[in-house]
Amino acid sequence: MHNTGKIIIGLLIFLVIAAFPIWYAVAGGKTGEMPVLEKAARGENCIIDSVLMKETHMFLLDDWRDEVVREDDRWYRSMTLDSTIEKSLTRTCLGCHASKANFCDRCHDYLAVVPYCWDCHVDPKEFE
Ligand code: HEC
Ligand code: HEC
Ligand code: HEC
Repeated sequence: MHNTGKIIIGLLIFLVIAAFPIWYAVAGGKTGEMPVLEKAARGENCIIDSVLMKETHMFLLDDWRDEVVREDDRWYRSMTLDSTIEKSLTRTCLGCHASKANFCDRCHDYLAVVPYCWDCHVDPKEFE
């Protein structure tokens, strides 16, 4: 069995590579735990079911943008709130999720998502 040494070295290399996500996360100070998000400042409900919101807000925001910019259609009927609200990223979303930093960014940073919206849209908090 003159190959045993090579096999062991091969196995060790394999283990290091296979464990990459773990030691990379540990070295980066992340333990894989989801950060705590700040609670909404207002309301019991999101504008749609909040689990659905978590999965689909990017599409909803894209629709809002297109409807406002192309069709000047600025109002949205929310079933969960039972009211009509403005289709606005800053005035509506950040109206309840008062801290972009402790809500939107905290989740996005954790998932390494970088929306380019803030190149133009301004978080009102940044001026306080
Ligand atoms: C009337 C207040 C209100 C408005 C307006 C609002 N939200 Fe929410 N949202 C909530 C509440 C309340 C929750 C439930 C969790 C909580 O208490 O923070 C929630 C939950 C969420 C979640 C899920 C969070 C999680 O931990 O799973 C996301 C994502 C979200 N909202 C994004 C948005 C976006 C994007 C907008 C604008 C399109 C928006 N919300 C508008 C009140 C609001
Ligand atoms: C609980 C986690 C979570 C929270 C809180 C959250 N998001 Fe997201 N967001 C995501 C995920 C996941 C994606 C999608 C990543 C993908 O599919 O590429 C995303 C994507 C987006 C995108 C599309 C980005 C792109 O470049 O495609 C926008 C815009 C966005 N989020 C806005 C918001 C805003 C505004 C808030 C706060 C009001 C918010 N999100 C809060 C998880 C979250
Ligand atoms: C190049 C600059 C720019 C970028 C980048 C941008 N927007 Fe906008 N957005 C605008 C302008 C200008 C308006 C029109 C403002 C108005 O008429 O009220 C607008 C309007 C909107 C509106 C409706 C009005 C409001 O108050 O929010 C939404 C929703 C929106 N954008 C979402 C997004 C989202 C989501 C992203 C990122 C995925 C994004 N935008 C990226 C410039 C931009």
